Amino acid sequence: MRVPLIAGNWKMNTTVSEAVELVNQMRPELDRIDNVEKVICPPFVSLAAIKELLKGSTIKLGAQNLYFEEKGAYTGEISPSMVADLCQFVIIGHSERRQHFNETIEVVDKKVKAALEVGLTPILCIGESLEENEAGRTEEVLTRQISSPSDQKYYFGGLVLAYEPIWAIGTGRAATGKQANETIGFIRQRISQQHSMKAAQEVRVLYGGSVTADNIAEFVNQPEIDGALVGGASLKASEFLSIVKQTSEIKRVR
Ligand code: 13P
Repeated sequence: MRVPLIAGNWKMNTTVSEAVELVNQMRPELDRIDNVEKVICPPFVSLAAIKELLKGSTIKLGAQNLYFEEKGAYTGEISPSMVADLCQFVIIGHSERRQHFNETIEVVDKKVKAALEVGLTPILCIGESLEENEAGRTEEVLTRQISSPSDQKYYFGGLVLAYEPIWAIGTGRAATGKQANETIGFIRQRISQQHSMKAAQEVRVLYGGSVTADNIAEFVNQPEIDGALVGGASLKASEFLSIVKQTSEIKRVR
């Protein structure tokens, strides 16, 4: 049985005091929900303060990125153990990082390995662009994104994957539950071929892209979808709570 997971990717939003306020608004009710893993991913600068605030809470903390080197002259970067000191999860390979910061498949692969080495659970983001989707290249793109370019030395089932079609991110144009379920089914099939059947069954796969309290049920009602990576809607306490609550109810009866 895969434990459902809802993660909030706050992206480049909230100062430390705003982040603390948002956590204070969400925490009491989120803590009452037990069958969903709840992860929030605020900006780096707020992680230490929020870690303190979440002592004794069931809410887990994630970072939005890391650098794969352990230490040294990399001005401005954050190492895997710095992240592991504060967080249990780390988002890797988000399409915004691939697009704006030129993260290649090779870089993403190094980051996944580095995260696993320090005991972090990577939330590896994959997804096709509108152009690729319209050209019928979705499966080819996803296959490339889940194939490690180097020798695979880690267990793929220990990752969380987030299928985020780029055309659905921040556009208000979400995929349909059925579309996302089919594509995630395809991803599991490829993982089974490239890694192992066990990994394909154990890896948790989230949907991401314009998820809201109004459409979350459509996604988590699908058998292949284990939860969501939520952007904009994770910045509103009531909206994020509703997303987690609905997931809890729907996945409990399954
Ligand atoms: P939105 O939910 O704002 O579309 O963002 C999705 C996303 O990129 C989460 O990582």
